[in-house]
Order: sequence, then C-alpha cells, then structure tokens
Amino acid sequence: MRFHDKVVLVSGGGSGIGRAVALGFAREGARVVVAGRGREALDQTVKLAEGGKVTALTADVSDSGSVAGLVGEIVERHGRLDVAINNAGVLATGKVADQAEEDFARVVDTNLTGVFLAMKHEIPAMLAGGGGVIVNFSSQIGLHKRLPGFGAYAASKAGVTALTRTAALEYIGQGIRINTISPGSHDTTMSLRPGETEADRAERVRGQVPIGRVGSLDEITGTVLWLASEDAGYVVGGDIVVDGGSTA
Ligand SMILES: NC(=O)c1ccc[n+]([C@@H]2O[C@H](COP(=O)([O-])OP(=O)(O)OC[C@H]3O[C@@H](n4cnc5c(N)ncnc54)[C@H](OP(=O)(O)O)[C@@H]3O)[C@@H](O)[C@H]2O)c1
Repeated sequence: MRFHDKVVLVSGGGSGIGRAVALGFAREGARVVVAGRGREALDQTVKLAEGGKVTALTADVSDSGSVAGLVGEIVERHGRLDVAINNAGVLATGKVADQAEEDFARVVDTNLTGVFLAMKHEIPAMLAGGGGVIVNFSSQIGLHKRLPGFGAYAASKAGVTALTRTAALEYIGQGIRINTISPGSHDTTMSLRPGETEADRAERVRGQVPIGRVGSLDEITGTVLWLASEDAGYVVGGDIVVDGGSTA
C-alpha cells in the first residue's frame, strides 16, 4: 500500500497502459482520478476497480481550459494532488512529405503540448500541497530510436523527454520530482500497426525486440508505480526505458 490515501491523476486512464496503471494505484490504496475524452471508457475503468477508489472526469489534455478545470476539480474534491501520470497520447504515422498537417498538429498538441499543459496546471496544485511526483509518458521512439513513418510521434515524444528534464530541474528544489518513462512495444491497440493482428504483432516483435515478445501491462505498470514511489526518491529528470532491450 505504497500510495495509501494519495491523490493520483492518470490521464488516458480509460484504456491500455493508463487503465492498467490506474488500477495498479487503486490496488495500492490511492484515490485515483482517471481522465480522458471518452466517458464510457473511463467508466469501464471505474467498474474494473471493483471497490477501489477510482473516479472519472472527462478532459482533453490538448485544451488548457479543460486541463485547468480537471486539476481544479480534483483539488476541490480531494483537497490536493500528490501524483500525476501524464499518459494520454495518440499516434499518427506517415512520411514527412505525405503527412497531413492536421495529423502532425494533433500528435504534437496531444503528446507534447498536452504534457506541457498538464504540468502547467498540476505543478501549482502540487506546490500548494507541499510537493508531488509527475511521470510523463515518452516513448522508445523519439530520443532512443528512429522509425521511418513515425516522425510526428518521435518529435512529440523527444519533446516530452526534453521538457521533462527541464521541468525536473526547475521544481525538484520545491519538492516535485518529475521523470519520463519510455515504453517499447506493449500490449495495447496503439502498438498494433495498421491492419496487424495480435498474432502478426507477436511475430514482428519476436524478430525485432531482443527479449522476443511484447511487454505486458503489468511490466509497465510496475515500473510506473516504482517511479512514482518513494523507492525512486533519488530519480530526478530521468528517463526510464522499458523496451525489452530494443534500444540497448
Ligand atoms: N503501447 C505501447 O507500446 C506504447 C509504446 C510507447 C509509448 N506509449 C505511450 O504510452 C501512452 C499510453 O498508450 P497506450 O498504448 O495505452 O494507448 P491507448 O490505449 O490508445 O491510450 C491512449 C489514451 O489517451 C487518451 N487520449 C488521447 N488523446 C487525448 C486527449 N486529447 N485528451 C485526453 N485523453 C486523450 C485516450 O482516451 P480518449 O481517446 O477517450 O481521450 C486513451 O485512453 C501514450 O502516451 C503512448 O504514446 C505506448
């Protein structure tokens, strides 16, 4: 129960990694708020928590007013914000000259501006409560690895890592510890290439990833909870890569 009574925000908590992470915090006693645009998916996470303290609030991380409202509502309901997991993200592929400008903008607005807006509103709430922990979601694709067709996503995630390191230096003196996590290929719909089945993905990953398999949701959840816990108290401005050896 490392997070007993802690107030934890997980963006993108209605699916994939965000849902698994939210349920992980709830199992360790946290009061978790899952946020995203789709109400139904968030409600499903609340249901899966089976008595764990999980509530849902709709929000769009690419909209400053929406993020301000989300953080304000959490503080009003729970009195503070202790941990923020800025996990919401989108992927759009396409070679640079072929990619629609709207797709590039959507990826950057969600993945990079979304993390900026989240921290912009989370940090004052954490300062008011005497400190906190932020984990931002980057990716192995970005600073660690390049993939043709993934330019917008790579640029957004490299930006997240750079922004996080700067923010970490700016706020560690005031008790806010900020890091990124960089997943590899995990078991969610986002890691499926267009038209690919789970069996196809398993075959592709067997040939590409040194460990020979997709990462489980438990394997990413365990690392996020560790990074947010006091066990990782000396990890500041770091980028924890969880990719089965892809970028070793
Ligand atoms: N899966 C992997 O292998 C992998 C690898 C590297 C990095 N990552 C990163 O890990 C994070 C989670 O990915 P995932 O695989 O769990 O993908 P996912 O299942 O597609 O989850 C993404 C979540 O983000 C939410 N979201 C998207 N745009 C949003 C917005 N504008 N405002 C609020 N919420 C928004 C979505 O909910 P709504 O659509 O309802 O808003 C969804 O719940 C992402 O940042 C991703 O880039 C994943």
